[in-house]
Amino acid sequence: MRELFNHRQQRGWLALLAGLCMPALVAAAPLPETGANPHEGVASCATSVCHGKVSEDENSTVWLNEYRIWLRNDYHSRAYRTLQTEQSQAIARKMGLPSAAGAKICLDCHADNVATEARGRRFQISDGVGCEACHGGSGQWLESHAEAGTSHADNLAKGMYPTEQPLERARLCLSCHLGTKDKFATHEIMGAGHPRLAFELETFTVNQPKHYDVDADYRDRKPAISSVNMWLAGLAVSGQATLELLQEDWFTKQSLMPELSFYQCHACHHPMSDLRWSPEGTPPGTVRLNDASLLVLAEVLDILGEGDGATLRSGLKQLHQASLQNRGAVVAQAKSLAGKVDPIARQVSSASYGTDSMRSLRQGLLQRAVSGRFRHFTAAEQVFLAVETLSISLGDSDRLESLLDAWFKSVEDENTFVPQQFAVRANQVLGGL
Ligand code: HEC
Ligand code: HEC
Ligand code: HEC
Ligand code: HEC
Repeated sequence: MRELFNHRQQRGWLALLAGLCMPALVAAAPLPETGANPHEGVASCATSVCHGKVSEDENSTVWLNEYRIWLRNDYHSRAYRTLQTEQSQAIARKMGLPSAAGAKICLDCHADNVATEARGRRFQISDGVGCEACHGGSGQWLESHAEAGTSHADNLAKGMYPTEQPLERARLCLSCHLGTKDKFATHEIMGAGHPRLAFELETFTVNQPKHYDVDADYRDRKPAISSVNMWLAGLAVSGQATLELLQEDWFTKQSLMPELSFYQCHACHHPMSDLRWSPEGTPPGTVRLNDASLLVLAEVLDILGEGDGATLRSGLKQLHQASLQNRGAVVAQAKSLAGKVDPIARQVSSASYGTDSMRSLRQGLLQRAVSGRFRHFTAAEQVFLAVETLSISLGDSDRLESLLDAWFKSVEDENTFVPQQFAVRANQVLGGL
């Protein structure tokens, strides 16, 4: 993985303190790729009188140099070009695809691959993950959104995607950073050389070069969401999205083997001499579904003293049991558990978490890490990122820097991850709090 752990990018970033709560949207907005609005192309946003200014415009509520930032510093602008690299060509060859840059399966995540009839005159597939892949097709609002007196609500009504809402943002990012019923990074793609997809909403939000400021005039127009709410929204929606995908054809499309991308990669991909099994509901020698986000969320709810932790845990246990039976059982459990996550997602993305809650969350997660609760790499990865996010929010990440760095070393490389080391380093962070 290239830069999930480019966590230093977060250093010095002044996190907003928890506090502001806005209700989550009730009805989910259609994802940009499925919305009915035409996608007019990055060129329609990028002129020098619009979002293509050379530097920030002091007189405007938004920066107006977003295009430059995206083009120069944002990985999304290179997503299409990535499909032309040697690595992508090798992936395509191994999968028997004529080319990566021409393959729907790749373009669906590496570009704004909407249907031909939804492409405006200036649309170019080579723009990669452009403005409208996140902000929604601009066909209905391109003209009006820049007119004086237009409110954010007006824009949303015309199909702009609510990127400011934590649950909606999580769903958007995860549509490519995990997958949807229409696109998915299968084990075949991984086996051909694609990197494992890892995601944590707050870290990725921070690591995407900022093209906006959450300042006073932003808060007049939109809710400012705290990093803790963003992190928890990401955990919950990631769990939900996985449970939804388990109900789709992806999971058992291949007749004999289920889709391996749903499982803990490192259940299979680790040395045989390394005896990692522990009694967590599945017998030795079985492959475990990747439950990292819900597992961590359950611990979070426990630490906060909210009863739902136990509900999640028993749901997960039933899901793991079902995974040893058959597809029907998995689908039923995934559906039932998804229903339970829904209210939790709303709750944790909008509740107000003050300093005390953040401190106990950090402490509680570290204690559980020390006790060996997070033995699977994907869960360990989530817990590291969570503790880092909390430390930044609490304002003492600089003081803890060397301890966090040492802990980070234990999750930096998934191929050399040793659960005991993760626990030992977590204990050192705990001691330094
Ligand atoms: C249409 C698909 C798509 C959407 C939607 C999307 N991404 Fe991405 N993202 C990608 C692809 C593809 C890459 C890899 C680009 C490359 O390097 O070629 C990427 C890369 C990134 C990276 C750099 C990853 C790294 O390893 O450093 C970050 C950070 C990121 N995305 C954050 C986000 C966030 C935050 C959101 C939601 C607001 C989001 N993305 C939405 C497809 C998407
Ligand atoms: C479900 C969405 C999805 C699909 C399908 C997908 N990718 Fe990706 N791809 C991503 C994301 C997201 C990243 C960035 C991962 C990260 O850094 O966290 C990425 C990263 C990559 C990278 C590594 C880029 C780098 O600079 O390290 C390559 C190469 C790549 N993809 C090629 C392909 C090819 C070729 C296909 C088609 C066979 C494909 N991808 C299909 C979402 C997808
Ligand atoms: C990977 C997803 C993604 C891409 C690509 C993207 N944005 Fe954004 N953008 C966001 C997110 C997330 C926010 C912050 C949340 C919000 O205010 O809606 C944001 C905020 C903004 C804002 C600030 C709004 C405000 O109210 O202050 C503007 C303007 C904007 N984007 C324009 C663009 C333009 C122009 C492009 C293309 C050059 C672009 N964005 C590409 C995700 C994206
Ligand atoms: C049920 C066991 C299992 C799980 C779970 C699993 N894999 Fe695999 N993986 C395999 C097998 C078997 C191969 C083929 C190995 C070979 O060809 O030697 C493979 C091959 C690969 C390869 C190519 C290695 C090679 O030798 O060419 C990559 C990369 C890979 N997997 C990544 C992943 C990722 C990422 C995940 C999790 C999202 C994952 N795997 C989950 C069993 C698994």
